[in-house]
Amino acid sequence: MNEHEQLHSRGPNGADQRRTDDAAVIADYENYVNPSYAALVKFGGFDSVEVSARGCLVTDSQGRELLDCAGGLGALSVGYSHPRVVAAVKDQLDKMAFSTRLLFNAPQARLGKKLAEITPGDLQYCFFCNSGTEAVEGAIKIARMSTGRSGLVSATGAFHGKSMGALSVSGRDLYKKPFQPLLPDCVNVPFNDIPALEQTVNQDTAAVLLEPIQGEAGVIVPDDGYLRAAREICDRHGALLICDEVQTGLGRTGKMWGCDWDGVAPDIMTLAKALSGSCVPIGAFIGTPRTWEVFKENPLIHSSTFGGNPLACTAALAAIEVIETEGLVEQAATQGEKLITALRETQAKYPQCVKEVRGRGLIIGVEFAHEDIGALVIVGLLQRNVIAAYTINNATTIRFEPPLVITDEQVAWAVRAFDEAVAQTVELIANIEMDEEDIEGTTNEH
Ligand SMILES: Cc1ncc(COP(=O)(O)O)c(C=O)c1O
Repeated sequence: MNEHEQLHSRGPNGADQRRTDDAAVIADYENYVNPSYAALVKFGGFDSVEVSARGCLVTDSQGRELLDCAGGLGALSVGYSHPRVVAAVKDQLDKMAFSTRLLFNAPQARLGKKLAEITPGDLQYCFFCNSGTEAVEGAIKIARMSTGRSGLVSATGAFHGKSMGALSVSGRDLYKKPFQPLLPDCVNVPFNDIPALEQTVNQDTAAVLLEPIQGEAGVIVPDDGYLRAAREICDRHGALLICDEVQTGLGRTGKMWGCDWDGVAPDIMTLAKALSGSCVPIGAFIGTPRTWEVFKENPLIHSSTFGGNPLACTAALAAIEVIETEGLVEQAATQGEKLITALRETQAKYPQCVKEVRGRGLIIGVEFAHEDIGALVIVGLLQRNVIAAYTINNATTIRFEPPLVITDEQVAWAVRAFDEAVAQTVELIANIEMDEEDIEGTTNEH
């Protein structure tokens, strides 16, 4: 009997018991994890506990099936617990769950080769770590060392992670200010602004670091030619171009890499999220031979105990195989097109409420006239068993980033829920405004 069946076999008092169990989990969050985060989650209407998941569907402790359109914040490309990824990991788990870190390890070697084959240009050498933040951290270290320069140019609104280095190149003061001083010589320029790059990049610039589509800034798609211009400006000044593909990589945008949209090959690319099929944490950065010169003097100049462990690399190899053999890059393009088109129909009905629907493939942002509207729509979606989420650096924009395996029926479910949630929100706001007018009218009469 699986965990879900056990939950539902608790007899006549099952529902009461489940509520008690949920309350205990939430209390543990409040007492031992992060009370303010627990309050935020509850405020967002998320008051149950996740129990199991498969594909795009999550089952919670109340037995509800939820359609996950937040997709693990972009990490779920092959969906939850893809059978081929799970089988590969189980097999590796039985063989060798961890590595000596001293002998050669086959899954790591095979994954390095595979990534070199599927990434653009002469990206060749891989460093493996455990998260996107660590990938960015390593990439900026290698950029500084290999150029002998310190300047790092990145974009306003960018999100690259929250360690001290990754934060230094991120683009929102809210998260940076409390930790100052951060790394020196880091400059943010407006995204999608070629003249700003022209004016800022110079002979002291080690690297320009850009997301091909800004995810957490609210899904900002740059104009065609922006990355190409960044490439050209970097080349002119001897600076490196780092593409942060942590969120856009591995098919999410409807092409294998976000930078493919502009036909650009960076000097270093950072990866994480979808890389291991959301099964085992992994991060990586892959660089050209020029950037890897830094390891010649000292092969251990950058290292990680768990980075590149056999479970994570096995999961990644299986996930990439699934993406390739199940045509998930193309699937992201077609399902994304359907979702964007349908969401725009709702936007056309409520233009005062929904300002814009934008994105590429299955990284889609919906911008509202006010951040409170976004919050109400997220709650409305949840009432219809659809999970959506904010973008970290843009409170007015919510995201739809479902697993790339989303079916037509599930797209229709998300679209119907969105349309109803927006209609409900518009009605709620209208009622509040009418009540306010009534109160004002009454006050004026006195
Ligand atoms: C573009 C980008 N870079 C880096 C990160 C940080 O990745 P992680 O949360 O795995 O550390 C994120 C996370 O959302 C991201 O979107």
